[in-house]
Amino acid sequence: MDSTFDRSRLRDADLLREDLFIDGVWTPGSSGERTDVLDPATGTVIARMAAATEADVLRAVDTAAAAAPAWARMTAPDRSRVMRRWYELIVASADDLAAILTAEQGKPFAEARGEILYGAGFVEWYAEECKRTYGDVIPSNVAGRRLLTVRQPVGVSASITPWNFPSAMILRKAGPALAAGCPMIIKPAEETPLSATALAELGARAGIPAGVLSVVAGTPAMIGEILTSHPTVRALSFTGSTEVGKLLMAQSARTVKKVALELGGNAPLIVFDDADLDAAVTGAMASKFRNAGQTCVCANRIIVQSGIHDAFVERLQTAVEALTVGNGFEEKSEQGPLISQAAVEKVERHIEDAVAGGATVRAGGARHPLGQTFFEPTLLTGVRPDMLIAREETFGPVAPVIAFDTEDEAVAIANDTPFGLAGYFFSTDLARMWRVGEALEFGVVGVNTGLISYEGAPFGGVKESGLGREGSRHGIDEFTELKYLCVDGLAG
Ligand code: SIN
Repeated sequence: MDSTFDRSRLRDADLLREDLFIDGVWTPGSSGERTDVLDPATGTVIARMAAATEADVLRAVDTAAAAAPAWARMTAPDRSRVMRRWYELIVASADDLAAILTAEQGKPFAEARGEILYGAGFVEWYAEECKRTYGDVIPSNVAGRRLLTVRQPVGVSASITPWNFPSAMILRKAGPALAAGCPMIIKPAEETPLSATALAELGARAGIPAGVLSVVAGTPAMIGEILTSHPTVRALSFTGSTEVGKLLMAQSARTVKKVALELGGNAPLIVFDDADLDAAVTGAMASKFRNAGQTCVCANRIIVQSGIHDAFVERLQTAVEALTVGNGFEEKSEQGPLISQAAVEKVERHIEDAVAGGATVRAGGARHPLGQTFFEPTLLTGVRPDMLIAREETFGPVAPVIAFDTEDEAVAIANDTPFGLAGYFFSTDLARMWRVGEALEFGVVGVNTGLISYEGAPFGGVKESGLGREGSRHGIDEFTELKYLCVDGLAG
C-alpha cells in the first residue's frame, strides 16, 4: 500500500484501512481501482481508498440480506452486548480515530476527538434502547380477540454520510439501525472514507457478525443508484445537501423505501435586546465557528436587535479576531482548513455579493496566509436578508449580522427560508422564550445556547431540511416497522 498517512500518529496502525469491508472481510474490490484521499490542510495524498464496482455493492447488499435474519432474531440483550463492546472499543481508540479524522477532514484534533465521543454516544445510547423497542396491547373491540403491536426491523438498511462529520454521522445512523436488528451498508463521503473503515474494523473486533456492517466507498452516483433502487434495501438514511436528498428520495420512491433525510439548513441566530450578552457571544461563536462553519446547524444568519447591536458586534469582533487558524494537529488550532477549493470559492462568492450590496467586513474577509483551503474567520455587518449569504448555506467561517427592530420582524426574517433544520435565539424574557420558541419553523431550536446536539434528543428538520429524526427514542423508528397482530379465537 503506497499510503503516505503518518502511521506514527496511531497507537494501533491496523485501524487505518484503505479497502472495502464486505461480508466481514477487507477487500480491494473487484476492479482494484483506488481514489486519492487528501489531507485538506496540506493537499497531500494520505491514502488510496479502494473504489467499489457495481458488483461489489451488489455483493454488500446480498451479504447484508443473508446476515439480516440471524441479527434480527438475536435477543435484544445479546445485540446490546455486541453494541456495547463496539462503543467501548471506539472510546478506547478515540485518539487514533481522532487522528484519522483530522488527517482526512482537517478539523482540530480536540474537536475531532469530541466528534468521536459524540458519535460513540449514539452507539451506547442505542445499545440500551434496543432493549426497549416496545409494542402495545390494545383494548379489544371483539370478545375473544387480542390486539397487539410489535416493532420489527425494517430489514437491510443503507446510509450515505457526509464529510463534515465523517464519524458521528455514521454512528448516529448505524446505532439505531443495528439496535433495531437491521444490517447497515455504509457509503461514506469520497473525501473521508478512512473514519468509516476504522469504525468497521472496531465493529468486527466487537463481534458484529459478517454482513451486518459493510463499507462501500466509491462513485456516489453509482452507489446511490444501487442502494436506492435495490428492492432488498428497505431503509435509506442520508445526511447531506437538500439537492442530493431530493434526488435520493425520488429514486427511493421506485421501491417505496423508508427514507430519513437530514439535509441543508439556513440557521438563524437571533439576539434580542434583553439577551445576556456573554451568553449570546459565546453561543454565536460556538454555533458559527464549530468545524470552521461547516455544519448543517451552524448559525448562517445572525439577527441582532438594534438596542444591543453595537455592543454585540464589538464583542463578537473581538472573539472572531482571537480565533487561531492552523493545521488541526497543532495544539493551538481552533479552526482548521475548509474541505476543498470549491468550499473556499463559495465563501468568497458570498462575501463579495454581500460587500457589493453594502455590507461591511469587520474582521477577516479573505483567504488565510497559510494558503491551501484555510480562510480567515470573518465578521460582516450591514447584511440584508435578500443577500446571497442570507439565502444560501455558506458552510464556512463567516458570521453575517443582520439588524432588526421588533420581535415580529426577527421571526419573519428567521422563517423566510425553505429550510428548517436548526434555529437559535437569546433572550432572558420567559414569555418570549415560549413565544419565539414556538413560532420558529425549525426542527431544533436552541434557546440561550449555540450547541444543541446530543444523542438522547431528537435531531432533524422540517420543510426542505428533511424527514425523520436521529437520536433519542424517535431515531429507532426510522429502522422499524409497526406490525398490528389481530388474534381471534381466544374465547374460552
Ligand atoms: C450536521 O451538521 O449535519 C450535524 C451537526 C450535529 O450533529 O451537531
